[in-house]
Amino acid sequence: MRFSVEVIGLLTCFLSQAIAAPGKRDLTSFTAAERAIALQGALNNIGPDGVKVPGAGAGFVVASPSKVNPDYFYTWTRDSALTLKMLIDEFIFGNTALQSYIDDYIHAQAKLQTVSNPSGTFLPAGLGLGEPKFQVDGTRFNGAWGRPQRDGPALRAIALMTYSNWLIKNGNSTAAKTIIWPIIANDLSYVGEYWNQTGFDLWEETLGSSYFTIQNQARALIEGAQLAHDLGVTCPGCVQAPEVLCFLQSFWNGEFIVSNINIDNGRTGIDGNSILGPIAIFDIDAYCDSPTMQPCHSNNLANFKVLIDTFRATYAINDGIPEGQGVAVGRYAEDVYMGGNPWYLITTAAAEFLYDAVAQWKARHVLIVDSTSLAFFQDIYPSVTVRQYNSGNANSPFAQIMDAVTAYADSFVAVAEKYIPSNGSLAEQFNRTTGVPLSANDLTWSYAAFVTMAQRRAGQYPASWGSRNAIAPPATCAGTSTTGVYVPAIAAGAPNVTSTCQVNVIFDVNATTYYGENLYVIGDTDDLGVWDVSNSLPMGAGGYTSERPLWSVSAYLNAGEEVNYKYVRQEDCNQPYIYETVNRTLTVPACGSAAITTNDAWDGPVGTSGNCGS
Ligand SMILES: *[C@@H]1O[C@H](CO)[C@@H](O)[C@H](O)[C@H]1NC(C)=O
Ligand SMILES: *[C@@H]1O[C@H](CO)[C@@H](O)[C@H](O)[C@H]1NC(C)=O
Ligand SMILES: *[C@@H]1O[C@H](CO)[C@@H](O)[C@H](O)[C@H]1NC(C)=O
Ligand SMILES: *[C@@H]1O[C@H](CO)[C@@H](O)[C@H](O)[C@H]1NC(C)=O
Ligand SMILES: *[C@@H]1O[C@H](CO)[C@@H](O)[C@H](O)[C@H]1NC(C)=O
Ligand SMILES: *[C@@H]1O[C@H](CO)[C@@H](O)[C@H](O)[C@H]1NC(C)=O
Ligand SMILES: *[C@@H]1O[C@H](CO)[C@@H](O)[C@H](O)[C@H]1NC(C)=O
Repeated sequence: MRFSVEVIGLLTCFLSQAIAAPGKRDLTSFTAAERAIALQGALNNIGPDGVKVPGAGAGFVVASPSKVNPDYFYTWTRDSALTLKMLIDEFIFGNTALQSYIDDYIHAQAKLQTVSNPSGTFLPAGLGLGEPKFQVDGTRFNGAWGRPQRDGPALRAIALMTYSNWLIKNGNSTAAKTIIWPIIANDLSYVGEYWNQTGFDLWEETLGSSYFTIQNQARALIEGAQLAHDLGVTCPGCVQAPEVLCFLQSFWNGEFIVSNINIDNGRTGIDGNSILGPIAIFDIDAYCDSPTMQPCHSNNLANFKVLIDTFRATYAINDGIPEGQGVAVGRYAEDVYMGGNPWYLITTAAAEFLYDAVAQWKARHVLIVDSTSLAFFQDIYPSVTVRQYNSGNANSPFAQIMDAVTAYADSFVAVAEKYIPSNGSLAEQFNRTTGVPLSANDLTWSYAAFVTMAQRRAGQYPASWGSRNAIAPPATCAGTSTTGVYVPAIAAGAPNVTSTCQVNVIFDVNATTYYGENLYVIGDTDDLGVWDVSNSLPMGAGGYTSERPLWSVSAYLNAGEEVNYKYVRQEDCNQPYIYETVNRTLTVPACGSAAITTNDAWDGPVGTSGNCGS
């Protein structure tokens, strides 16, 4: 097994370097065919007509049709925005049939911004914009989750700004200004106000500061300042851009990018986060030393080598593949989720990152190899030295290095090809030992990531987003903030919500439980899941003692409203839920009232452990 992997590695090397043409043609036809499958795969997961996601509302992107192990049948702000960015670029590259998806997304997101959720309300301070996920019809999700996640508003603004710039170029500034800008303005307000607070990373596990998040926030504010100028409107939060860029520089530790800081979780910080960020802020017009940290930046190249070599040593399917050859890439070496495996979207992102860098060097006609990036280049072009390489003819060292990096990129696509099943479907992960697809099937983000990689491989680059307009970061960083302005985007279909007044209600219930049993509050309002147990409020047993079997949860409910509610027990071993027999009522006090606490005792049948775990 190991021997044959090495043989394949050598063969790939031979094909791509000695007889490049046939190998390339094969990869090119594979990429073109898979790109079409991937685009359709993404569209199949978008409401209201996506064939794999019945029940999804218009413009809502479902993460995956998978409803069990794992249940990804929700809409995430991040995944949706990255998918729409891909669709908007496809539209701009000429696929005009995609415009209706873009219009649906605009209307869906305008409404979604105003939905109260466990991260908070839209008014007065935009807190609800940090909520990572919602039901596929755009209603709130109440379950326990890693929240807030502060990349969502930035990514949504970036997708919508890309479309707005196209509208401006095509004589439709009015729509950009009156319909779309109000949505963008809320998201940029959120970024300008909260960029310097911790949140969960893109993998929803780590509460700290994430390279991917900060990098996209910087792009959003820089691009937002330019768009506001072009539309004749203001973006107060955009003045934070230099400070966000300043903070972005601090993720580099001299050897690699520590993807999560302001946290100590015992991990190295070497994480696929650090290549997904650069490809999301790729600008074909950027300089490689831009503080926006482009793919061709020396720090990112050095980090790329450290990251990829980490996975070279982590997964059995990468055994024997030498440095300078593509491997299967996952989230981070310490990952245990679903066994900790390579992901399709990160493996193709590695290729995209390299295609981006090559495009930038070619566009600038120059490559500067420095002591930071030297080791990256040595793996693929051993005679490289620290110097400036100017573009030249096909035999010039510059051209040879470009070919070597491109071949390196292709080798990651070849790895993806090897582990993509013959029908072209893309799950989330593939087994680190066998390469068999794993976890959620038909993951929308996997499809979107394949298409953006295929765009770059085919030489399709989105128009510049204006990275050259970035104001240089100050010499000393400061954690500043601009108070946001939040207004429902009514022209795009948002309801005219006025300030939502909510009052803190603490649900306390005495309920003796066995180890493994859980409690929820359920009721007849959106906040309490409208009697849908999968959307009820999870309670905590942090105050449970032998004197008092207390289960508790703190909620915010609409002032003055009458609520019907009860408690539910979740049993172990897949036994059915047990509901209280009583129906309880409470009247939330008037706006401005202090918190109230229920003092309830369980009223109904109790359960017993199924003892399946022992
Ligand atoms: C302008 O763009 C909006 C939003 O996509 C669209 O609904 C409208 O039809 C466009 N108007 C024109 C004249 O193209
Ligand atoms: C806030 O910004 C300062 C200055 O860049 C930085 O040192 C600090 O870690 C940041 N904190 C968070 C939570 O973003
Ligand atoms: C991956 O494959 C190995 C070998 O067949 C198996 O033991 C392991 O359980 C698989 N991992 C997952 C998460 O299914
Ligand atoms: C495609 O192949 C995968 C892996 O063999 C399989 O799980 C999936 O069901 C197939 N999809 C379709 C639509 O046939
Ligand atoms: C939204 O509601 C407020 C308060 O009721 C009202 O003053 C305002 O005119 C409404 N805006 C629109 C566009 O209907
Ligand atoms: C009482 O609770 C049940 C759920 O257990 C719910 O279906 C029903 O609508 C409730 N009745 C009232 C009057 O709220
Ligand atoms: C819950 O338990 C505490 C402590 O034993 C007790 O003071 C309180 O009255 C109980 N609440 C109800 C509703 O029984």
